[in-house]
Amino acid sequence: MLFFIATEKQPRATMLKILPLTPALGAEITGMDLSRPMSTDEFRSISNAMLEHQVIFFRNQTLSNEAFVAWGERFGPLMKHPAASKQHPDLDKLAVVRADETTRNAFGEGWHSDQSALPEPPTISMLYLNTLPDVGGDTLWSSTYRAYETLSAPMKQLVNTLSVFHNNLKPNRGYVFTGSGRVMHFEQPLVIRHPDTQRCALFANRLATTHIPQLTWAESEALLAFLYAHIEQPRFQCRFRWTKNALAMWDNRCTQHTAVWDYFPQVREGVRLTVQGQPLIAAFPDQVQWTKERPVAARLE
Ligand code: SIN
Repeated sequence: MLFFIATEKQPRATMLKILPLTPALGAEITGMDLSRPMSTDEFRSISNAMLEHQVIFFRNQTLSNEAFVAWGERFGPLMKHPAASKQHPDLDKLAVVRADETTRNAFGEGWHSDQSALPEPPTISMLYLNTLPDVGGDTLWSSTYRAYETLSAPMKQLVNTLSVFHNNLKPNRGYVFTGSGRVMHFEQPLVIRHPDTQRCALFANRLATTHIPQLTWAESEALLAFLYAHIEQPRFQCRFRWTKNALAMWDNRCTQHTAVWDYFPQVREGVRLTVQGQPLIAAFPDQVQWTKERPVAARLE
């Protein structure tokens, strides 16, 4: 798809080219310099590409931290990411992501959507990497739209009625996140409706989902194990091979992602931004049997 853009203040013709990565999701966009102010037309094109492809990529971008923040703010108010290894000293919404020879658990490893235990999970996340290993360090995304849409009708009928608890300190692979000391434990719909596309998506992930309160523990464990395996199938995925100064931007409401930590002890480093979200919308609000616990947002400092 091509877009020809000319703005009044800065007459120029920008040719955006959008190259889909897989039928499920992902697209690489060329013909755009993210360090320059974005015109209204460009913003519309990028936003539409996000809605259609769910995760988009730009390569060879030369961005200062300030320019990256300015770009990110066009998509909504930014929030701090409490699980990132550290915040940037001057720009507190910018999180530094780094893995090196001292790393014991790399940030972002394991399928998840960002901060899914928050009452208002982030809409969009962006990652800009400037240091890469010689090979490896790819990131994979999966479409939770496709995962929902390919369930059988009886399975859809069941999941439409359920909620799920998410906890940001769920122990994973023998360690717990201790980043900010904030414990979030929140009941989300298992099937959500994206406010812009109106498409339905599954909202349960391996790193943060603890249980389905309407089921027995054994039923909950079995159904969640099935849903994780279903979501993580290659046919719903795309895989991005990073190059220096590439930027990825994804929608947490309809995707999950996992960072592949296969490059130890080499260094992979960059910065990321997170756009503040809204409460999630249940796809079938009249059918969900909420527990008495809802809403729960424990804050233990
Ligand atoms: C994340 O945001 O979960 C990390 C993604 C990555 O490092 O590729």
